Amino acid sequence: MAKFDSILGTIGNTPIVRINRLGPQHVNLFVKVEAFNPLGSVKDRLALGVIEAAEKSGALKVGQTVVEATSGNTGIGLAMVCAVKGYPLVITMSEAFSVERRKLMRFLGAKVVLTPASERANGMVKKAEDLALKNGWFQTRQFENEANPEMHSRTTAREIVADFAGERLDYFVTGFGTGGTLTGVARVLRRERPETKVIVVEPDAAAMLASGLPQERRADGAATASHPSWKPHPYQGWSPDFIPRVAGEASSEVLYDEVVTVSGPEGMKASLSLAQKEGVFVGISAGGTFAAALKVAETAPAGSNILCMLPDTGERYLSTPLFADINADMNDDEMAISLSTPGQHLPPKAAA
Ligand SMILES: Cc1ncc(COP(=O)(O)O)c(C=O)c1O
Repeated sequence: MAKFDSILGTIGNTPIVRINRLGPQHVNLFVKVEAFNPLGSVKDRLALGVIEAAEKSGALKVGQTVVEATSGNTGIGLAMVCAVKGYPLVITMSEAFSVERRKLMRFLGAKVVLTPASERANGMVKKAEDLALKNGWFQTRQFENEANPEMHSRTTAREIVADFAGERLDYFVTGFGTGGTLTGVARVLRRERPETKVIVVEPDAAAMLASGLPQERRADGAATASHPSWKPHPYQGWSPDFIPRVAGEASSEVLYDEVVTVSGPEGMKASLSLAQKEGVFVGISAGGTFAAALKVAETAPAGSNILCMLPDTGERYLSTPLFADINADMNDDEMAISLSTPGQHLPPKAAA
């Protein structure tokens, strides 16, 4: 279908793409490219899911202000949904996250309230709670809201099951931010595709699920301090400094088989390789998930089908270390091209 009632109809139904040049030959590697969502990330699904669930339950009233704590992609998705549906939106966000994210949300009409980087993800969540309480605003609570994994069970998981109908799906590889993708998709796979091994990816600096250590919580369920296994990492949108309730459910329901950790440089290198060898332009966490999928591929039996989630577009990272080595001015090679005499050819790109 190519004609929609509003932009919201274009959320989901993202393509699954075969990887041809990266990875070992004995397996089939596929990626699900969430950058095809209208605002460029998997979080568009969550945004629509939580707002529609709140409208249905009556928790969100016509014209009521919506407030959420987010590292960016959720805010951008919510800003789109609220623009279409006419809800004012306030986003609380740590100043540690990239400037283009703030600007995008403001462009879409949201107000962005920054919280100190030193207060980490916990700080921005606390600020959203305070504002909601003080002003009677509707808080979408992406880290706890069951409508988040539920949306992934209804959309992401259904798409995957349909696209692998009649074929094996041996591994599903995903990172987690709230855990919505992980918990929502894995619940369906456990039920309908019990042969599929679910692999969770974490930054090596923040291997919280791998540690097996629980998160200390206040009486109201919010986290008190950073998880003992958490340290800062370059994966915006991944592994906040606490284990969200939605991700915790994946542990308690035994929804994953293995945790694979990846370093920041590994993820950034994989993101660059995806762009330059496959033409797939995605962010740092997508690179991290793909780096983990490559590790899984090394020991996977011959003929295995491996599906890797790629959560967002690379354009969200222009001001981050992902682009640190991408120059704006001409380098020596480019100067030489500019000054070259007629008939010069660039060497062909090396085959993978
Ligand atoms: C940038 C980004 N957005 C979203 C997600 C997925 O988030 P969630 O666990 O909230 O579904 C990830 C996790 O891989 C991510 O890296």
